[in-house]
Amino acid sequence: MAILKIARMGHPALLAPAKPVENPAAPEIQRLLADMAETLDDAGGVGLAAPQVHVGLRLFIYKVPASRAGEDAGQVPLTAVINPVLTPLGDNMSMDWEGCLSIPGLRAAVPRFDRLHLAALDAAGQKLEKEVFGFEARVIQHEADHLDGILYTMRLSDFRYFGFTEETLRFDFPLPKIMRASHDQ
Ligand code: NI
Repeated sequence: MAILKIARMGHPALLAPAKPVENPAAPEIQRLLADMAETLDDAGGVGLAAPQVHVGLRLFIYKVPASRAGEDAGQVPLTAVINPVLTPLGDNMSMDWEGCLSIPGLRAAVPRFDRLHLAALDAAGQKLEKEVFGFEARVIQHEADHLDGILYTMRLSDFRYFGFTEETLRFDFPLPKIMRASHDQ
């Protein structure tokens, strides 16, 4: 296994739409997933998408650690998600803090759908289908955005909630509540 170099904001690898994975069982895909797991472990995040390590394929890995599991949602072990299709369930969105390994040292409050249905393939090429909500839904939306060349900075609705992680952690300011997605308005 190997620790891969993570592209940082400004690198065009992060802006290009990724291509579907044709064969999840292929040795090079298995190797990539193993290397991404090692890279994520080393970097200390909760998710990593292939374009972040300069590979333009539609796959990411993510986990929900105990510290981020909600009262009604459990931990999720490191999970591979290949060729995902996300379908929001309902219009409700929330703002919460997000960071990104490609944007080190910064974070922002980003609007995301509260619940969604995820359909994808897992690392064995088997169907992966689940309904997710809360932090897990947020991480999945963040990582899936990477596959379309979208960074969280492009989702910001209020730049007052964008800053250096170190600074924002010093101030426990309340996040704005949003109840509904604004559809094409
Ligand atoms: Ni990211």
